Amino acid sequence: MRIAMIGSGYVGLVSGACLADFGHEVVCIDKDPEKIAALNEGRMPIYEPGLDALVAENVRQKRLAFSTDLKPAVAGAQAVFIAVGTPSRRGDGFADLSYVYAAAREIAEALTGYAVVVTKSTVPVGTGDEVERILREARPDLDIGVASNPEFLREGAAIGDFKRPDRIVIGAEDARAAAVMQEVYRPLYLNQAPILFTGRRTAELTKYAANAFLATKITFINEIADLCEQVGANVQEVARGIGLDNRIGGKFLHAGPGYGGSCFPKDTLALVKTAQDYGTPVRIVETVVAVNDQRKRAMARKVIAACGGSVRGKRVALLGLTFKPNTDDMRDAPSLSIIAGLQDAGARIVAYDPEGMEQARPLLQGVDYAEDAYACAEGADALVIVTEWNAFRALDLARLKATMAAPVLVDLRNVYASADAEQHGFAYAGIGVA
Ligand SMILES: NC(=O)c1ccc[n+]([C@@H]2O[C@H](COP(=O)([O-])OP(=O)(O)OC[C@H]3O[C@@H](n4cnc5c(N)ncnc54)[C@H](O)[C@@H]3O)[C@@H](O)[C@H]2O)c1
Repeated sequence: MRIAMIGSGYVGLVSGACLADFGHEVVCIDKDPEKIAALNEGRMPIYEPGLDALVAENVRQKRLAFSTDLKPAVAGAQAVFIAVGTPSRRGDGFADLSYVYAAAREIAEALTGYAVVVTKSTVPVGTGDEVERILREARPDLDIGVASNPEFLREGAAIGDFKRPDRIVIGAEDARAAAVMQEVYRPLYLNQAPILFTGRRTAELTKYAANAFLATKITFINEIADLCEQVGANVQEVARGIGLDNRIGGKFLHAGPGYGGSCFPKDTLALVKTAQDYGTPVRIVETVVAVNDQRKRAMARKVIAACGGSVRGKRVALLGLTFKPNTDDMRDAPSLSIIAGLQDAGARIVAYDPEGMEQARPLLQGVDYAEDAYACAEGADALVIVTEWNAFRALDLARLKATMAAPVLVDLRNVYASADAEQHGFAYAGIGVA
């Protein structure tokens, strides 16, 4: 099949490369000429494990190309995916759909015959209806299908998730569009990946419901962690104790500094707004959003407490800046709020992240960057593990302690056992571990 992918960010680029790997002919389009130039030179504009090799191979096989020119890519394509950003709208938190609608208008002009226009971006219920209206108004001469195909991949494991998904959700309102979508995913169908065909609105809502549920699970265990600290219990053991129950499941039960990233914060907020608009507020999700917002800042207070109540003039070393390991994505990362809280309290910040420092620089002021974890800790009054990169899992604690000004370890991901850290002479503070 011929496929056009509009938007070549974390989702568009991975999806485009994987669809090419299935054997389709894919052109990934982006407005950002630097991104496209980098891709055409074989450089990845984002960090995602395995992506460079997958892209290189499919470019070599002539199944994958990159361009800023939408028209020729859309003309003659059987499926046109919209994978542009849907960030929170300034002011009210609703999803900003301007990029989606702009893409739809450009696609409308470029279509030459029947095609299915597919929203892969995470979009509020009813967006597909509006995309269809835009297309039909612009091109009354054409028969066009409009489908919803929300993406569930996780950054850091995106290729595996796309190629071996738990499920594929396709929202289509007619059999012809559904048949095209089935053909797009036929290679996965042969692997027996479950494909759910639903109405378009159902597919749109399914994505928000999934993210809101996962965000709720994280927030639930975070609050239980706070309670554990007060009552002298251990949240990791509680999480295991409940996670082994198949009805609950052990995933997303790791207490930490609060969820961040490019999806959960904006998607929970957008769901809250949609639900309010329809007069059916989702109170649990509203609470999750509020609890999580407060939590990120509370993590700075936790560090301050571990430093004896003040960080004024102290050097605080942060390990990990990205919202999770194996990505360079800094969008809504908890590190941003934690650093702001510590700087407000007078701390000097030094940080190290294996992949995120380039993206972090424009977002942070007054932060020094180190070359590795050990250099970061040198002379520090406290070491804070914010993101659980593998590189931070087996640090030489004796070596760290020897160069630090004060042996304080604040482990916001519970990477280290408190007994182990204390044995090495550290004052240790984890999450939900008394
Ligand atoms: N990042 C994730 O892990 C993830 C997972 C599932 C779903 N999603 C959803 O997928 C969508 C995209 O997310 P992302 O993280 O890939 O965003 P991104 O910001 O990394 O990429 C979006 C890209 O679209 C481009 N773009 C915008 N308007 C365009 C236009 N008219 N024509 C061509 N290109 C255009 C931008 O230049 C940018 O490169 C969002 O709705 C997001 O919620 C993201």
